[in-house]
Amino acid sequence: MPVNPDTMESAREVIRRCRKLATFSEDAGRTRRTFLSAPMRDCHREISRWLAPLGASVTTDAVGNLRAVFPGADPRAPRLLLGSHLDTVPNAGAFDGVLGVVLAVALMESLAGRELPFGVEVIGFSEEEGVRFGVPFLGSRALVGTFDEALLRREDARGVSVRQALESFGLDPSQIPSARLENDVFGYVEFHIEQGPVLEDLGRPLGVVEAIVGQTRMAVTFVGRANHAGTTPMHLRRDALAAAAEWIVKVENDARREQGLVATVGAVHAVPVAANVIVGEVSVLLDVRHRSDDVRAMAAARMMDHAKEIASSRGLSLRQGVLLDHATVPMDRFLADQIEHAIRQAGCEPHRMVSGAGHDAMILAERVPAAMVFLRTPNGISHDPAEAVLVEDVAKAIDCGLHLLTASSLLPGRPCRA
Ligand code: HGY
Ligand code: MN
Ligand code: MN
Repeated sequence: MPVNPDTMESAREVIRRCRKLATFSEDAGRTRRTFLSAPMRDCHREISRWLAPLGASVTTDAVGNLRAVFPGADPRAPRLLLGSHLDTVPNAGAFDGVLGVVLAVALMESLAGRELPFGVEVIGFSEEEGVRFGVPFLGSRALVGTFDEALLRREDARGVSVRQALESFGLDPSQIPSARLENDVFGYVEFHIEQGPVLEDLGRPLGVVEAIVGQTRMAVTFVGRANHAGTTPMHLRRDALAAAAEWIVKVENDARREQGLVATVGAVHAVPVAANVIVGEVSVLLDVRHRSDDVRAMAAARMMDHAKEIASSRGLSLRQGVLLDHATVPMDRFLADQIEHAIRQAGCEPHRMVSGAGHDAMILAERVPAAMVFLRTPNGISHDPAEAVLVEDVAKAIDCGLHLLTASSLLPGRPCRA
Protein backbone atom coordinates (compact mmCIF):
# COMPACT_ATOMS: atom_id res chain seq x y z
CA MET A 1 0.00 0.00 0.00
CA PRO A 2 1.62 3.30 -1.05
CA VAL A 3 2.31 5.76 1.77
CA ASN A 4 0.76 9.19 1.42
CA PRO A 5 3.15 11.99 0.35
CA ASP A 6 2.78 13.92 3.63
CA THR A 7 3.85 10.88 5.62
CA MET A 8 6.80 10.33 3.27
CA GLU A 9 7.87 13.93 3.81
CA SER A 10 7.48 13.48 7.56
CA ALA A 11 9.64 10.34 7.31
CA ARG A 12 12.33 12.19 5.38
CA GLU A 13 12.30 14.88 8.10
CA VAL A 14 12.64 12.19 10.81
CA ILE A 15 15.77 10.85 9.10
CA ARG A 16 17.14 14.37 8.61
CA ARG A 17 16.60 15.10 12.31
CA CYS A 18 18.24 11.84 13.43
CA ARG A 19 21.28 12.65 11.32
CA LYS A 20 21.35 16.18 12.78
CA LEU A 21 21.28 14.83 16.34
CA ALA A 22 24.10 12.43 15.38
CA THR A 23 26.36 15.48 14.90
CA PHE A 24 26.01 16.33 18.60
CA SER A 25 29.00 14.26 19.70
CA GLU A 26 31.96 14.13 22.10
CA ASP A 27 34.17 13.08 19.17
CA ALA A 28 34.84 15.07 16.00
CA GLY A 29 33.64 13.26 12.88
CA ARG A 30 31.94 10.36 14.65
CA THR A 31 28.98 9.94 17.03
CA ARG A 32 29.56 9.38 20.75
CA ARG A 33 27.06 10.90 23.17
CA THR A 34 27.27 9.39 26.63
CA PHE A 35 25.34 10.06 29.84
CA LEU A 36 25.02 13.82 30.60
CA SER A 37 27.84 14.78 28.25
CA ALA A 38 27.79 18.33 26.84
CA PRO A 39 26.41 17.20 23.43
CA MET A 40 23.39 15.75 25.29
CA ARG A 41 22.43 19.33 26.19
CA ASP A 42 22.58 20.26 22.48
CA CYS A 43 20.34 17.29 21.81
CA HIS A 44 17.81 18.45 24.39
CA ARG A 45 17.86 21.98 22.95
CA GLU A 46 17.24 20.79 19.38
CA ILE A 47 14.40 18.44 20.33
CA SER A 48 12.83 21.14 22.53
CA ARG A 49 12.92 23.46 19.50
CA TRP A 50 10.86 20.89 17.53
CA LEU A 51 8.48 20.46 20.46
CA ALA A 52 7.95 24.16 21.15
CA PRO A 53 5.17 24.75 18.56
CA LEU A 54 3.26 21.69 19.80
CA GLY A 55 2.37 23.10 23.20
CA ALA A 56 3.94 20.30 25.23
CA SER A 57 5.37 21.05 28.66
CA VAL A 58 9.04 20.10 28.27
CA THR A 59 11.28 19.39 31.27
CA THR A 60 14.51 17.59 32.09
CA ASP A 61 14.05 15.33 35.09
CA ALA A 62 16.55 14.76 37.90
CA VAL A 63 18.37 11.99 36.06
CA GLY A 64 18.60 13.91 32.79
CA ASN A 65 15.66 12.39 30.88
CA LEU A 66 13.99 14.82 28.45
CA ARG A 67 10.24 14.72 29.12
CA ALA A 68 7.46 16.33 27.07
CA VAL A 69 3.88 15.95 28.28
CA PHE A 70 0.92 16.42 25.93
CA PRO A 71 -2.33 16.44 27.97
CA GLY A 72 -5.31 14.47 26.63
CA ALA A 73 -8.87 15.71 26.07
CA ASP A 74 -9.69 14.55 29.58
CA PRO A 75 -6.98 15.90 31.92
CA ARG A 76 -7.80 13.11 34.36
CA ALA A 77 -7.07 10.41 31.73
CA PRO A 78 -3.83 8.44 32.16
CA ARG A 79 -1.11 8.96 29.59
CA LEU A 80 0.86 6.81 27.18
CA LEU A 81 4.65 7.07 27.16
CA LEU A 82 6.42 7.15 23.78
CA GLY A 83 10.19 7.33 23.54
CA SER A 84 13.60 5.75 23.63
CA HIS A 85 17.16 6.73 24.60
CA LEU A 86 19.28 9.68 23.43
CA ASP A 87 22.68 8.37 24.49
CA THR A 88 24.84 6.34 22.09
CA VAL A 89 27.71 3.89 21.98
CA PRO A 90 31.09 5.14 20.72
CA ASN A 91 31.29 5.55 16.92
CA ALA A 92 27.53 4.99 16.79
CA GLY A 93 25.04 5.10 13.99
CA ALA A 94 22.38 7.83 13.78
CA PHE A 95 19.27 5.81 14.65
CA ASP A 96 19.76 3.51 17.68
CA GLY A 97 17.55 5.06 20.37
CA VAL A 98 17.25 8.49 18.79
CA LEU A 99 14.84 7.27 16.10
CA GLY A 100 12.29 6.34 18.78
CA VAL A 101 12.31 9.85 20.22
CA VAL A 102 12.29 11.69 16.87
CA LEU A 103 9.53 9.43 15.53
CA ALA A 104 7.44 10.11 18.67
CA VAL A 105 7.81 13.86 18.04
CA ALA A 106 6.77 13.30 14.40
CA LEU A 107 3.63 11.46 15.57
CA MET A 108 2.72 14.37 17.83
CA GLU A 109 3.35 16.80 14.96
CA SER A 110 1.04 14.76 12.71
CA LEU A 111 -1.60 14.72 15.47
CA ALA A 112 -1.20 18.44 16.25
CA GLY A 113 -4.59 19.93 16.92
CA ARG A 114 -6.24 16.53 17.28
CA GLU A 115 -7.11 15.77 20.89
CA LEU A 116 -6.56 12.21 21.97
CA PRO A 117 -8.70 10.79 24.79
CA PHE A 118 -5.48 10.17 26.76
CA GLY A 119 -2.32 12.15 27.41
CA VAL A 120 1.03 11.37 25.77
CA GLU A 121 4.49 11.86 27.23
CA VAL A 122 7.45 11.79 24.83
CA ILE A 123 10.61 10.71 26.67
CA GLY A 124 14.27 10.87 25.64
CA PHE A 125 16.10 8.67 28.15
CA SER A 126 19.45 10.03 29.31
CA GLU A 127 21.33 6.74 29.52
CA GLU A 128 20.53 3.29 28.15
CA GLU A 129 23.82 1.97 26.77
CA GLY A 130 25.86 1.96 29.99
CA VAL A 131 28.94 3.26 28.16
CA ARG A 132 30.13 5.96 30.59
CA PHE A 133 29.55 4.19 33.93
CA GLY A 134 29.31 0.54 32.82
CA VAL A 135 25.74 0.19 34.13
CA PRO A 136 22.91 0.56 31.59
CA PHE A 137 19.38 2.01 31.89
CA LEU A 138 20.19 4.78 34.41
CA GLY A 139 17.48 6.99 32.87
CA SER A 140 14.63 4.49 32.75
CA ARG A 141 15.50 3.01 36.16
CA ALA A 142 14.59 6.37 37.72
CA LEU A 143 11.11 6.19 36.16
CA VAL A 144 10.36 2.81 37.72
CA GLY A 145 11.98 3.63 41.06
CA THR A 146 14.94 1.25 40.81
CA PHE A 147 17.70 3.85 40.59
CA ASP A 148 19.79 2.47 43.45
CA GLU A 149 21.56 5.17 45.51
CA ALA A 150 24.78 3.08 45.25
CA LEU A 151 24.83 3.94 41.53
CA LEU A 152 25.64 7.55 42.48
CA ARG A 153 29.07 6.37 43.64
CA ARG A 154 30.04 4.63 40.37
CA GLU A 155 32.90 6.40 38.60
CA ASP A 156 33.71 6.84 34.93
CA ALA A 157 37.17 6.37 33.34
CA ARG A 158 38.18 9.85 34.57
CA GLY A 159 37.09 9.20 38.16
CA VAL A 160 33.95 11.35 37.87
CA SER A 161 31.06 9.86 39.86
CA VAL A 162 27.46 9.63 38.70
CA ARG A 163 26.63 12.12 41.44
CA GLN A 164 29.21 14.61 40.12
CA ALA A 165 28.02 14.08 36.54
CA LEU A 166 24.45 14.88 37.58
CA GLU A 167 25.51 17.97 39.51
CA SER A 168 27.71 19.28 36.65
CA PHE A 169 24.72 18.89 34.34
CA GLY A 170 22.82 21.13 36.79
CA LEU A 171 20.72 18.31 38.25
CA ASP A 172 20.00 17.49 41.89
CA PRO A 173 20.54 13.79 42.73
CA SER A 174 18.31 14.14 45.81
CA GLN A 175 15.40 14.78 43.40
CA ILE A 176 15.79 11.47 41.50
CA PRO A 177 12.84 9.89 43.37
CA SER A 178 10.63 12.66 41.90
CA ALA A 179 11.35 11.28 38.39
CA ARG A 180 9.40 8.17 39.30
CA LEU A 181 6.16 7.50 37.41
CA GLU A 182 2.90 7.96 39.28
CA ASN A 183 -0.03 5.63 38.69
CA ASP A 184 -1.29 7.73 35.79
CA VAL A 185 0.47 5.92 32.95
CA PHE A 186 -1.24 3.14 31.04
CA GLY A 187 1.59 2.03 28.80
CA TYR A 188 4.95 2.58 27.14
CA VAL A 189 5.58 2.09 23.42
CA GLU A 190 9.09 2.28 21.97
CA PHE A 191 9.85 2.47 18.26
CA HIS A 192 13.39 1.17 17.65
CA ILE A 193 15.54 -0.22 14.87
CA GLU A 194 15.81 -4.01 15.06
CA GLN A 195 19.61 -3.80 14.98
CA GLY A 196 19.73 -7.26 13.43
CA PRO A 197 19.04 -9.10 10.14
CA VAL A 198 15.65 -10.76 10.75
CA LEU A 199 13.17 -8.25 9.25
CA GLU A 200 15.41 -7.62 6.26
CA ASP A 201 15.75 -11.37 5.68
CA LEU A 202 11.94 -11.70 5.77
CA GLY A 203 11.38 -8.59 3.66
CA ARG A 204 9.21 -7.03 6.40
CA PRO A 205 9.41 -3.30 7.26
CA LEU A 206 8.03 -3.55 10.80
CA GLY A 207 8.13 -6.08 13.63
CA VAL A 208 6.30 -6.56 16.93
CA VAL A 209 8.57 -7.40 19.87
CA GLU A 210 7.24 -10.27 22.00
CA ALA A 211 10.11 -10.37 24.51
CA ILE A 212 13.49 -8.79 25.22
CA VAL A 213 16.18 -11.32 26.09
CA GLY A 214 17.83 -11.21 29.49
CA GLN A 215 21.35 -9.89 29.95
CA THR A 216 24.25 -10.60 32.28
CA ARG A 217 27.00 -7.97 32.30
CA MET A 218 30.14 -8.69 34.40
CA ALA A 219 33.21 -6.57 35.12
CA VAL A 220 36.27 -8.88 35.10
CA THR A 221 39.89 -7.96 35.89
CA PHE A 222 42.89 -10.24 35.42
CA VAL A 223 45.66 -9.14 37.80
CA GLY A 224 49.17 -10.33 36.91
CA ARG A 225 52.57 -8.68 37.10
CA ALA A 226 53.96 -6.04 34.74
CA ASN A 227 57.56 -6.74 33.86
CA HIS A 228 60.31 -6.23 31.30
CA ALA A 229 59.42 -7.82 27.93
CA GLY A 230 63.05 -8.57 27.13
CA THR A 231 64.41 -9.99 30.34
CA THR A 232 61.50 -12.04 31.69
CA PRO A 233 61.56 -15.70 30.55
CA MET A 234 58.20 -17.03 29.35
CA HIS A 235 57.79 -19.50 32.24
CA LEU A 236 58.25 -16.73 34.82
CA ARG A 237 55.60 -14.36 33.46
CA ARG A 238 52.22 -13.39 34.87
CA ASP A 239 50.92 -11.84 31.69
CA ALA A 240 47.40 -10.46 32.27
CA LEU A 241 46.76 -9.84 28.57
CA ALA A 242 47.70 -13.38 27.55
CA ALA A 243 45.37 -14.71 30.27
CA ALA A 244 42.50 -12.49 29.11
CA ALA A 245 43.11 -13.52 25.50
CA GLU A 246 42.98 -17.23 26.40
CA TRP A 247 39.70 -16.60 28.25
CA ILE A 248 38.13 -14.53 25.47
CA VAL A 249 38.60 -17.34 22.96
CA LYS A 250 37.20 -19.84 25.49
CA VAL A 251 34.11 -17.61 25.98
CA GLU A 252 33.59 -17.44 22.21
CA ASN A 253 33.90 -21.21 21.76
CA ASP A 254 31.55 -21.83 24.69
CA ALA A 255 28.86 -19.52 23.26
CA ARG A 256 29.19 -21.13 19.81
CA ARG A 257 28.15 -24.47 21.28
CA GLU A 258 24.77 -23.29 22.65
CA GLN A 259 21.89 -22.44 20.27
CA GLY A 260 20.74 -18.83 20.78
CA LEU A 261 23.50 -17.97 23.25
CA VAL A 262 25.61 -14.86 22.60
CA ALA A 263 28.59 -13.84 24.70
CA THR A 264 30.87 -10.90 24.10
CA VAL A 265 33.98 -9.63 25.84
CA GLY A 266 34.55 -5.95 25.20
CA ALA A 267 35.61 -2.62 26.71
CA VAL A 268 39.16 -3.97 27.15
CA HIS A 269 41.51 -1.80 29.25
CA ALA A 270 45.10 -3.08 29.58
CA VAL A 271 47.88 -1.45 31.64
CA PRO A 272 50.64 -0.57 31.22
CA VAL A 273 50.42 0.21 27.51
CA ALA A 274 53.87 -0.32 25.96
CA ALA A 275 55.31 -2.85 23.54
CA ASN A 276 58.21 -3.70 25.82
CA VAL A 277 56.23 -4.14 29.04
CA ILE A 278 54.34 -7.29 29.96
CA VAL A 279 50.74 -6.24 30.72
CA GLY A 280 50.12 -6.39 34.46
CA GLU A 281 46.36 -5.83 34.56
CA VAL A 282 43.46 -6.22 32.11
CA SER A 283 39.88 -5.13 32.81
CA VAL A 284 37.11 -6.29 30.48
CA LEU A 285 33.30 -6.42 30.40
CA LEU A 286 31.49 -9.70 29.69
CA ASP A 287 28.01 -9.53 28.08
CA VAL A 288 25.99 -12.78 28.04
CA ARG A 289 22.47 -13.07 26.61
CA HIS A 290 19.94 -15.80 25.98
CA ARG A 291 16.15 -16.01 25.88
CA SER A 292 16.22 -18.60 28.68
CA ASP A 293 17.32 -17.10 32.00
CA ASP A 294 18.57 -20.51 33.17
CA VAL A 295 20.75 -20.99 30.08
CA ARG A 296 22.12 -17.44 30.43
CA ALA A 297 22.85 -17.85 34.17
CA MET A 298 24.57 -21.23 33.68
CA ALA A 299 26.62 -19.91 30.76
CA ALA A 300 27.76 -16.83 32.69
CA ALA A 301 28.70 -18.97 35.71
CA ARG A 302 30.60 -21.41 33.47
CA MET A 303 32.48 -18.56 31.78
CA MET A 304 33.44 -17.05 35.14
CA ASP A 305 34.69 -20.47 36.31
CA HIS A 306 36.86 -20.61 33.19
CA ALA A 307 38.24 -17.15 34.05
CA LYS A 308 39.16 -18.34 37.55
CA GLU A 309 40.80 -21.53 36.21
CA ILE A 310 42.87 -19.61 33.67
CA ALA A 311 43.92 -16.98 36.20
CA SER A 312 44.98 -19.56 38.75
CA SER A 313 46.84 -21.73 36.18
CA ARG A 314 48.89 -18.65 35.26
CA GLY A 315 49.52 -17.43 38.82
CA LEU A 316 47.21 -14.43 38.41
CA SER A 317 44.38 -13.19 40.63
CA LEU A 318 40.91 -12.27 39.41
CA ARG A 319 38.50 -9.52 40.39
CA GLN A 320 34.87 -9.69 39.27
CA GLY A 321 31.64 -7.75 39.74
CA VAL A 322 28.09 -8.05 38.48
CA LEU A 323 26.99 -4.91 36.62
CA LEU A 324 23.71 -6.26 35.33
CA ASP A 325 21.72 -9.45 35.80
CA HIS A 326 18.39 -8.86 34.08
CA ALA A 327 15.82 -11.51 33.26
CA THR A 328 14.14 -11.91 29.88
CA VAL A 329 11.14 -9.59 29.79
CA PRO A 330 7.91 -10.42 27.92
CA MET A 331 6.24 -7.43 26.28
CA ASP A 332 2.62 -6.55 27.11
CA ARG A 333 0.30 -8.80 25.11
CA PHE A 334 -2.54 -6.29 24.80
CA LEU A 335 -0.25 -3.55 23.47
CA ALA A 336 1.55 -6.03 21.19
CA ASP A 337 -1.81 -7.03 19.69
CA GLN A 338 -2.72 -3.35 19.24
CA ILE A 339 0.62 -2.78 17.50
CA GLU A 340 0.16 -5.82 15.27
CA HIS A 341 -3.25 -4.49 14.22
CA ALA A 342 -1.81 -1.01 13.57
CA ILE A 343 0.98 -2.50 11.43
CA ARG A 344 -1.63 -4.27 9.31
CA GLN A 345 -3.59 -1.01 9.01
CA ALA A 346 -0.39 0.58 7.73
CA GLY A 347 -0.49 -2.03 4.98
CA CYS A 348 2.33 -4.24 6.27
CA GLU A 349 2.53 -7.88 7.26
CA PRO A 350 3.79 -7.80 10.87
CA HIS A 351 6.42 -10.19 12.22
CA ARG A 352 6.48 -11.13 15.90
CA MET A 353 9.98 -11.55 17.24
CA VAL A 354 12.32 -11.52 20.22
CA SER A 355 14.78 -8.69 20.74
CA GLY A 356 18.43 -9.73 21.21
CA ALA A 357 19.23 -6.11 22.05
CA GLY A 358 18.32 -4.64 25.41
CA HIS A 359 15.97 -1.66 25.54
CA ASP A 360 14.45 0.74 28.05
CA ALA A 361 11.16 -1.11 27.47
CA MET A 362 12.55 -3.99 29.56
CA ILE A 363 12.89 -1.60 32.49
CA LEU A 364 9.58 0.24 31.98
CA ALA A 365 7.86 -3.18 31.87
CA GLU A 366 8.52 -3.48 35.62
CA ARG A 367 6.02 -0.70 36.19
CA VAL A 368 3.73 -0.27 33.16
CA PRO A 369 2.59 -2.37 30.20
CA ALA A 370 5.43 -1.99 27.67
CA ALA A 371 5.74 -2.85 23.99
CA MET A 372 8.04 -2.19 21.03
CA VAL A 373 7.80 -1.66 17.30
CA PHE A 374 10.90 -2.68 15.33
CA LEU A 375 11.94 -1.08 12.06
CA ARG A 376 13.97 -3.10 9.54
CA THR A 377 17.74 -2.56 9.76
CA PRO A 378 19.36 -2.64 6.30
CA ASN A 379 22.28 -5.16 6.31
CA GLY A 380 21.50 -5.81 9.99
CA ILE A 381 24.25 -3.37 10.98
CA SER A 382 24.00 -1.39 14.21
CA HIS A 383 26.26 0.23 16.81
CA ASP A 384 28.21 1.45 13.78
CA PRO A 385 28.07 4.51 11.45
CA ALA A 386 26.72 2.20 8.71
CA GLU A 387 23.48 1.85 10.73
CA ALA A 388 20.54 2.91 8.52
CA VAL A 389 16.77 2.93 8.03
CA LEU A 390 14.68 3.05 4.85
CA VAL A 391 12.54 6.16 4.44
CA GLU A 392 9.59 3.96 3.35
CA ASP A 393 9.89 1.96 6.57
CA VAL A 394 9.97 5.14 8.67
CA ALA A 395 6.85 6.31 6.82
CA LYS A 396 5.12 2.98 7.55
CA ALA A 397 6.18 3.28 11.20
CA ILE A 398 4.60 6.75 11.36
CA ASP A 399 1.46 5.37 9.74
CA CYS A 400 1.42 2.49 12.21
CA GLY A 401 1.94 4.93 15.10
CA LEU A 402 -0.96 7.13 13.98
CA HIS A 403 -3.27 4.11 13.69
CA LEU A 404 -2.13 2.95 17.12
CA LEU A 405 -2.65 6.31 18.84
CA THR A 406 -6.01 7.01 17.23
CA ALA A 407 -7.40 3.50 17.77
CA SER A 408 -10.40 3.69 20.09
CA SER A 409 -9.36 0.28 21.47
CA LEU A 410 -6.20 1.81 22.96
CA LEU A 411 -8.36 3.70 25.44
CA PRO A 412 -6.85 3.23 28.90
CA GLY A 413 -9.77 1.23 30.20
CA ARG A 414 -7.25 -0.95 32.00
CA PRO A 415 -5.63 -0.05 35.29
CA CYS A 416 -1.86 -0.03 35.12
CA ARG A 417 0.05 -2.19 37.56
CA ALA A 418 0.62 -0.63 40.97
O1 HGY B 1 23.32 -3.48 24.41
C1 HGY B 1 22.20 -3.41 23.94
O2 HGY B 1 21.56 -4.41 23.69
C2 HGY B 1 21.57 -2.08 23.68
O3 HGY B 1 22.03 -1.58 22.46
N1 HGY B 1 21.85 -1.16 24.74
MN1 MN C 1 22.38 0.37 21.51
MN1 MN D 1 18.98 1.19 21.65
